Amino acid sequence: MTIGIMGAMQEEIAPLLEHYKSYTTIPFGGNTFYKVELENKTLIIACSRIGKVFSSLTASCMALHFGCEKIIFNGVAGGVNPNYKVGSLVLGTQLCQHDVDITAFGHPYGFISGSSVFIPTDISLNNIAKIVAKEQEIPLYEGVIATGDQFINNKERKDWIKKEFNADAIEMEGASVAVVCANLNVPLCIIRAISDNAGDEALISYEEFLEHSAKQSANLVINIIKKI
Ligand code: ADE
Repeated sequence: MTIGIMGAMQEEIAPLLEHYKSYTTIPFGGNTFYKVELENKTLIIACSRIGKVFSSLTASCMALHFGCEKIIFNGVAGGVNPNYKVGSLVLGTQLCQHDVDITAFGHPYGFISGSSVFIPTDISLNNIAKIVAKEQEIPLYEGVIATGDQFINNKERKDWIKKEFNADAIEMEGASVAVVCANLNVPLCIIRAISDNAGDEALISYEEFLEHSAKQSANLVINIIKKI
């Protein structure tokens, strides 16, 4: 079984590479992929770079070139749900693109013809994530994640995204990876740790907590991999 693990930034995959220690590097598609051989599975790890375009490219490379049969996304997100604190872990059950706007044609925000506003992640992988979190006594929230090519550090925009999509967290890659995986029939799991609250002070919090939150999320992902 070959499993892809992706993050958007080096900080989001560094804890995984540190954990697995032994890997080969494979250049492909303008990026570097790290191949880890475990006893009964192969992992393909990569940092996609930020945003929907680069994350789609990486997910497609993982599925079509490296033959990944499942993909897990590991990273950080801005928290919108008031119960979330910095470091809270969120399992993305549904993803949407908050920056898609063809409302001029009478469509709702986030809608693209031939697709749907919300794309679900894989129920079986999500169940494994929930079991692992329960075993380790780690609180794991389930939520709607809104994705867009914008770092949200503005309360007004954050509140609009929350209201329009009933979003619990905001990031910049989940929905695009979900679209790729849904269309290529690759089961996807998205784990995010909260680094900021996407409000007016988001940047300061993000810079302070990116590394710590990325590690929290990576630790859960490592244990999910063991259970697959
Ligand atoms: N990732 C982490 N925090 C974020 C935010 N506030 N907006 C977009 N992506 C993020």
